[in-house]
Amino acid sequence: FPVDQTRAFGKLILFGEHFVVYKVPALVGAVSAYTDCKLEYTTEPGLEVIDNRPAVPLYKEKKMDEGIEAINLTLTHLGVDTKKSGVKLTFGGDLCCASGIGASAAQVVSLARAVNIADSRSLSEDEINAAGYEGEKGYHGTPSGIDNTAATFGGLLRFQRTEGAPIFDKKTLVSPIRIVYASTGITASTTEVVGDVREKKEADEAWFADLIGKYTKLCEEGQKAVEEGDMDKLGKLMNLNHEYLQELTVSCKELDDLVVAARAAGAVGAKMSGTGRGGLMIALTPTEEIQNEVGSALEKLAPQVWKTTFA
Ligand code: PMV
Repeated sequence: FPVDQTRAFGKLILFGEHFVVYKVPALVGAVSAYTDCKLEYTTEPGLEVIDNRPAVPLYKEKKMDEGIEAINLTLTHLGVDTKKSGVKLTFGGDLCCASGIGASAAQVVSLARAVNIADSRSLSEDEINAAGYEGEKGYHGTPSGIDNTAATFGGLLRFQRTEGAPIFDKKTLVSPIRIVYASTGITASTTEVVGDVREKKEADEAWFADLIGKYTKLCEEGQKAVEEGDMDKLGKLMNLNHEYLQELTVSCKELDDLVVAARAAGAVGAKMSGTGRGGLMIALTPTEEIQNEVGSALEKLAPQVWKTTFA
């Protein structure tokens, strides 16, 4: 089984978590770490899942039930009935499952790729992405689709949810964007946090409209900074996006501490990335030297730290 053809990437949101749910643009970067999936049909009907993916402690334990639901939704969408045929899935790869890295999306996209290969279908990338989106619903009811899109297509994407199919396009980078990301070790429920944001919005529509308006301008400027390769500007905008997320109450002390430490160690910008209330933070570190400094500073505080580039 050509497992390497089932790779699906992790992602980090540069701008726009939570706001993206309300159909404004976001910028998302795929990381090179991936999940892959081997699919074997077995004689006895049923589903067997072997999960060899690395994970931060507690991640898989907390996500296991939702994971099975997501797998079943993906298989059903693709017309694979485990009541009729036996399916054995083995998930692997080097993507460390941590809340915020899009591991759930990478898992269901790699599964869709595995079905495509096992059944000798010729699904398009859009169809793979659509199957991943169905699977994502098993993790949280109303995903924006940003995670599965980054997992399927890779690169740095501008993504926008619409009433119909999402709109997205790949950004060409002047030079690779060097980053450090770190885990708080805490896994929050995306469904719960997205639900809380919705409640806050409904309780004060004027406040939310003002905030999302400011965010939308920020995201436009962020795209320009990416296109121009202006790292200082990009960093400042990441800092501002973090403030907006604090105002949404989706950051937390652990994330704020990592953000402050990264900036103190030389990052030109830092913010939480993903659901928040735990999960990950991302720091912009334009040179290898700064990347190493920031990495070392964060290692003192965070259970896990990674260095990579969006390329
Ligand atoms: O925590 P993650 O990586 O699943 O990111 C969720 C991003 C949200 O904007 C909070 C939700 C969504 O569906 O886009």
